[in-house]
Amino acid sequence: MNTKKRSFESICIKDEMIENHHAHVLPIYATSTFVYEDIEKAMDYFKGKSDTHAYSRMSNPTPDFVAKKIARLEGFDETKSLETFGVLFGSGMAAISSAILACIEAGQKVITTNNIYGTSNQFLASTLQTLSVGLVYSDLKDMQLLEQQLLADKSIKVIYIETPTNPTLECYDLKSIATIAKKYQVYTIVDNTFSTPYLQRPLTLGFDIVVHSGTKFLNGHGTGISGVAVTTDEELYKKINQNKKVFGGICSPFEAYLLNNGIRTLSLRMKQHQANAQQLAEFLEQHPKITKVNYLGLKSHADHELAKQQMFGFGGMLSFEIDGNFDTAIHFMKQIQFCTVTATLGTTDTLLTHSASTSHSNVPSEQRKAAGISDSLIRCSVGIEAIQDVIDDIQNALSKI
Ligand SMILES: Cc1ncc(COP(=O)(O)O)c(C=O)c1O
Repeated sequence: MNTKKRSFESICIKDEMIENHHAHVLPIYATSTFVYEDIEKAMDYFKGKSDTHAYSRMSNPTPDFVAKKIARLEGFDETKSLETFGVLFGSGMAAISSAILACIEAGQKVITTNNIYGTSNQFLASTLQTLSVGLVYSDLKDMQLLEQQLLADKSIKVIYIETPTNPTLECYDLKSIATIAKKYQVYTIVDNTFSTPYLQRPLTLGFDIVVHSGTKFLNGHGTGISGVAVTTDEELYKKINQNKKVFGGICSPFEAYLLNNGIRTLSLRMKQHQANAQQLAEFLEQHPKITKVNYLGLKSHADHELAKQQMFGFGGMLSFEIDGNFDTAIHFMKQIQFCTVTATLGTTDTLLTHSASTSHSNVPSEQRKAAGISDSLIRCSVGIEAIQDVIDDIQNALSKI
């Protein structure tokens, strides 16, 4: 591995560290198996003494390279980068489930919040219950309460959070949570999908594991599904990697290649997502038909100061409430002509989602409202187009409701 200190942008762009052959860009190793040089090498491999490749469910140079690149980005620090270990997966959910299962045993509990991604919640609340792992929901903004809970219940072994959250962009204090967790020997896992390591590096703030849906901003172009888990703890890495091999949720070399292509422009894209989001948020904030804008770059957001402290920017995600009800929001969505109406996020084009009728339609209305998701809330993943085209489209749609 090339250990020379590089800037964040250069790590994204250059495919250094490729094994052998001096390829300019990352090659796709489209092969299920690898050939042993001789029988001794084969025996070494099966004794765990060799780091060569044998079978692509175990390891393959293409996804392994991308895992190392993302791990390097998550551990990046201007002065002294952390030693980090990454595992690439076939989806964000494969990464999330494999990472959590590496930290927990039957009879233990995970503590989380009630505003995490729906399928992550399903994994914790349903799948893990069948393995006799308990779940506690809490307000992880209250550090005193967290400390009391960890003190009172020694079976809590994992803290699982997302920050910023979907779709209201609430933030949790990574450093404070990590400090308390360490005191009680509890593992900390955070979903960093919304920020990417360009905007937030939780491992440098003391978290044990970062997970991502690589499908979103990391890939950036909506061309493939992938996930990644990164940790500073080599023993945890071995367990996560073992889960990859055993459950088989691997990232194919082709999807890894697409992910790597996306990462090359991560810095440029994130800068533009963010600049556009700030402009759109300011436009929406002064619009008479908008009652609320959730964007971390606005001083009006309750977590603006915390985001300033622990992030390197405010990102490309925002949400806004239209003055009206469920039907008004549906009517607004029908008037959209330029932005893309879809439920994903993190691509180069601007994406709009009406949460109450799509991503959160299975959540009971009262529970949705308690989480700040009103019937007229629209989530926006701001793209990198000329922002005036996006503003014009939204302004036109608002003028028709
Ligand atoms: C915040 C977040 N985490 C995890 C996931 C799951 O990722 P994937 O769809 O790649 O499995 C998603 C998917 O939308 C997400 O939005």
